[in-house]
Amino acid sequence: MRFIVLGAAAGGGFPQWNADSRACRRARAGDPAALPATQAGAAVGVDEGRWLLINASPDLRMQIEATPALHPHDGIRSSPIKAVVLTNADIDAIAGLLHLREGTPFALYGHGRVLRTLGVNPVFEVVDRSVVPRREIEADVTFTPADATGEALGLRITPFLAPGKVPLYQEGEDATDVAARQGDTLGLDITDGRSRIVWLANCALVDEAVRARVEGCDLLCMDGTLWRDDEMVVQGVGRKTGRRMGHVSMSGEQGAMAALEHCRIGRRLFVHVNNTNPALLADSAERAELEERGWRVAHDGLEVRL
Ligand code: MLT
Ligand code: MN
Repeated sequence: MRFIVLGAAAGGGFPQWNADSRACRRARAGDPAALPATQAGAAVGVDEGRWLLINASPDLRMQIEATPALHPHDGIRSSPIKAVVLTNADIDAIAGLLHLREGTPFALYGHGRVLRTLGVNPVFEVVDRSVVPRREIEADVTFTPADATGEALGLRITPFLAPGKVPLYQEGEDATDVAARQGDTLGLDITDGRSRIVWLANCALVDEAVRARVEGCDLLCMDGTLWRDDEMVVQGVGRKTGRRMGHVSMSGEQGAMAALEHCRIGRRLFVHVNNTNPALLADSAERAELEERGWRVAHDGLEVRL
């Protein structure tokens, strides 16, 4: 399998349009230890020329241009992107679908709750259903992703319910259960029959069920939104904790590193990293600590061959 990180950052990207933090200033100044990053997504391919995307971030157009494997090479109107699987309906996971509206076929996979969100937003009808079939996936039901004509892409994917919440724009007045498992947030267990990748870029907490899901995988792409739970509060850029936003933090007793310490995992990679997270900075103490503990922070364009 070829796995390419298209975007390593959380919603907003790095630097974020309205952020003037020291880290964002360093990124804008071209500091090599503060590499800019686009909003989270990845591409998975088995054979050359056919790719499945995990999510479609608002940065998808530039991500495609930055990734030669995703350039058209099979006719004047064509694309090697044959399928897109959505793990949730957050803006940073679905807005990029609007870039894929030009009438080239691919298949779109999502949980019923996510497809319903697309269905009630008529703007997504620009991704013409007669060209781009929408296929519902279910938790714990393994499927074989295929292109729009039904030709299999050589992968098997088992989606699973990750602890998470509805998208921000669907939150009501009431406090929502931020660790519910209802299909609003999925993890993906992806295999070509030889290796396993687990994509878990949105995960509110790591419990026994999550540990069981990641056990034995060759590559884990884990929610790396925040270093510590109150990071945005402390930095004065928000009132919500990571937990309230549906994101476990990297550090701390309940954090992802501690909770996954004893799992058998080939490579541990953090993705969906927020611009407030000091571990984004290659010269930070936090980066050094996580690397010491066997983790890496993804960057745009990072490729892993499995
Ligand atoms: C998240 O991951 O919490 C969301 O992407 C936040 C957002 O909608 O900006
Ligand atoms: Mn997000």
